[in-house]
Amino acid sequence: MQDQVRIITLERPETITRDNLRKWSNNFSLPTVVRNAFDIPSCTCESFLRPNDVVFASKGNIAHFQAGNGKYPWGQLWDDMNNGYKVYGSFGVGTENFGHTFSRTILDWKSKLLPADMFAKNEYSGHLIFGACDELQTSSPWHNAVDANLLFQLHGEKHWYTMEQLPEGFQPLPVTTHANTVINEKAEENVACLDKNIEYYKTAHDTKLFESGTKIVLRPGDMLINPPFSWHAIKIDQFSISLSLRGDREDVCYWIGQKYFNGQLNNPLFLTFSYLFNAYSYVDIMKGDLPWYKTLSISIYKTLFPNYIIDFYNRETQRLKKVQKHICECKFLYELKCSEK
Ligand SMILES: [Fe+2]
Repeated sequence: MQDQVRIITLERPETITRDNLRKWSNNFSLPTVVRNAFDIPSCTCESFLRPNDVVFASKGNIAHFQAGNGKYPWGQLWDDMNNGYKVYGSFGVGTENFGHTFSRTILDWKSKLLPADMFAKNEYSGHLIFGACDELQTSSPWHNAVDANLLFQLHGEKHWYTMEQLPEGFQPLPVTTHANTVINEKAEENVACLDKNIEYYKTAHDTKLFESGTKIVLRPGDMLINPPFSWHAIKIDQFSISLSLRGDREDVCYWIGQKYFNGQLNNPLFLTFSYLFNAYSYVDIMKGDLPWYKTLSISIYKTLFPNYIIDFYNRETQRLKKVQKHICECKFLYELKCSEK
């Protein structure tokens, strides 16, 4: 199998600079785990939030990190996780748990891990993902995204699966302007049947996908450099806490320029992408409140990105739009079914 991941073990933690990230990841060519990237922190309940802070999360089941089935005091969630009960959730940008309390924690952790000039504009300050499980279970099915993403494993272990190319029979399905999940190529033939589409949503959980990926166990002190559009999925089997920090738009452009354009930052296609990407705003996208010209720019940048040309034409057909609508409904039903178990 083609190399799908790099592992670098540092003798001792080094300052995380843009140059070091590029060096460790070989120009962001592959997802890279940097072992010993930072000193293992001591993690207590209060290292993150006050015990009485209320957090939207999933209790009793493992759902998507942005999902939840109630609001619980952080101290109660912490005790449950410590005792190995099923809990999953996140706080910070892009989650239901957003506001001063949560962003303060993210920024405090960020200042401990990254120098002040890294990801300095805080266009997407990041989110913290927490959870526990007593058996190996998928917490994020297969997906990819535009982000320049650093994941710091703060506590416990996490199984990270990754691959660069989808195996035969699978194709990307856009879920937002900047992220894709995976769908079975034949999905559009069956849009009429909702139950069957539940199966297609589950495609992203497909065993074949997991077999095609490379698994890396992330341990405390590990930092994962996850380049734009690398496919990945996550499983957990224990109490695990990760901090996901995302670069500003200029970092995304820099990483993409290195990964896909061999560092030739004057490539005209890349320059066009960079120009259009200026309109990209995580926060506006999360709010679902974009002016038409920004929506147009975001659509156009995807068409200029080579891997996404085919995808663009697919998106313009009604059949895939139908699939997408059904997938959303199925996702909801599927999560509902999971939570009923
Ligand atoms: Fe991800």
